[in-house]
Amino acid sequence: MSKYKVSFLVSITTVVFLFGACTTGQLGRKNSTEYYNGMVVSAHPLASKVGLNILKKGGNAVDAAVAVQFALAVVYPNAGNIGGGGFMVYRSASGEISTLDYREKAPAASSRDMYLDSEGNAITDKSLYGHLASGVPGSVDGMVKAHQKYGKLSWAEVLQPSIDLAANGFALTERQANELNSNAAAFAKFNPGKDYFLKSKWIADDKLVQSDLAKTLTLIRDNGREGFYAGEVADLIVAEMASGSGLISKKDLADYQSVWREAITGNYKEYRIITMPPPSSGGIALIQLLKLVEPYPLKRWGFNSDSTVQLMVEAERRVYADRAAYLGDPDFFKVPQQALMASSYSLSRMKDFNWNQATPSNLIKEGVIAPKESEETTHFSIVDREGNAVSITTTLNGSYGSKVIVKGAGFLLNNEMDDFSVKPGTPNMYGLVGGEANAISPGKRMLSSMTPAILEKDGKLFMIVGTPGGSTIITSVFQTILNVVEFDKNMQAAVNAKKFHHQWLPDEVFVEKGTLDSLTQIKLQKKGYKITERGDIGRVDAILKTKWGYYEGGADPRGDDSKMAW
Ligand code: GLY
Repeated sequence: MSKYKVSFLVSITTVVFLFGACTTGQLGRKNSTEYYNGMVVSAHPLASKVGLNILKKGGNAVDAAVAVQFALAVVYPNAGNIGGGGFMVYRSASGEISTLDYREKAPAASSRDMYLDSEGNAITDKSLYGHLASGVPGSVDGMVKAHQKYGKLSWAEVLQPSIDLAANGFALTERQANELNSNAAAFAKFNPGKDYFLKSKWIADDKLVQSDLAKTLTLIRDNGREGFYAGEVADLIVAEMASGSGLISKKDLADYQSVWREAITGNYKEYRIITMPPPSSGGIALIQLLKLVEPYPLKRWGFNSDSTVQLMVEAERRVYADRAAYLGDPDFFKVPQQALMASSYSLSRMKDFNWNQATPSNLIKEGVIAPKESEETTHFSIVDREGNAVSITTTLNGSYGSKVIVKGAGFLLNNEMDDFSVKPGTPNMYGLVGGEANAISPGKRMLSSMTPAILEKDGKLFMIVGTPGGSTIITSVFQTILNVVEFDKNMQAAVNAKKFHHQWLPDEVFVEKGTLDSLTQIKLQKKGYKITERGDIGRVDAILKTKWGYYEGGADPRGDDSKMAW
């Protein structure tokens, strides 16, 4: 029997287990908030439940992560995906670390100027919506590789919960019903003749059944990688491309490979940060940010005091300027990784910092403006009974990606091509400006801000953290870490805390409503900081190992996120 062949028995066992587990989520804890045996924090309660059930069944953190990645593709189609990509950071209970890059790639037929008109102006709609916006998806290959290397349960066992959710349907939350309603026109526009996700009006508790997706997931369950990158699903992707002038070919799909990469590591005081190397900019930028603020007495200044905010903003300004100039796919561009993270560079970078006034961004050398990034990614954090930890951030880029659903296969394709510098110097959907390092090239991976991270303290697991949020990902992870290690917040409070963000250009400090008290705001404005209120920043899902040995979760209240533990 093939490795991927599922038996009827496995299906039945999984279903029985799923129901049984709902009532036993509290096992193993000493009191109502102390969990010792494992935890899953994700963007959707049903995905967290799938992950927890896998842990209880004897699966490890990677088994649970694979199950959650596929479950999110069903229950959180805005960002959960099989048609997108992501990054995984792993730390085993014994301290082995690895990272997996399953970022999308530019199709072979792509070209540097493919989103420019005859006058050389960027046609941003083309990189954002429709068939031409998609990179070659990496999620399925990534999950296959992660499971092959670390998985303990069978592939079929970790796939089955998502097949059941797609086939049997699940109840929409109110937020999800509203999101589907507000995207109805886009779904209709980019999927003529299809009725996916379309209903006159969705309301909370409506059941969403995805039969085509259940069929695709079953093919992946039974055939592994080949169930997606070859055969029927590959044919459907290529047919979908042909119907809308997309570029992804059978060869692009067959050639796609996710890559194990050496983790980025760095220290902040007694903590070691393990995070993602390029093509994510997140890891290097996070380490740079922490290094730039490390010499200063943040704890004494206090959470969101004027000095704390000013210092962090000035660090962010400089790091985002570097991001725009130096970061891109390391397979195509030599990223000066060590130089950017060197302590001597950090010290020199803050030399022109002036406490009396904001440093104008146009005086910061190096950067070229990066494109604006979509904020609709998703992150999940998992720890198992042994203490193995997984931090995954995965995305379609924009909410529901390109809005194109593969006919007959029932899944959304990403619009990740917009994360390239469509025209070096022109901002993307997050206002980030990119340089030559991130120009489009066939087979290249687009730069990302995704920052899945794991922290150690004294050589032991301390925190698992990450968030969606496009360009705000890096600053949200930065703040969440400092909220715990400097400002003594517990994990949930650190996640809940209001956030702010500066990304060099535009030269503004973006704040969630209520982040700064009025006196702090006035003090900063007097020094020349432009402060702009905006909506939610980040949606962090994180786990902290407390000094008492139990796990504390932080599930972001900005979404439907949920933590489940035992
Ligand atoms: N698409 C968002 C990111 O990769 O950062």
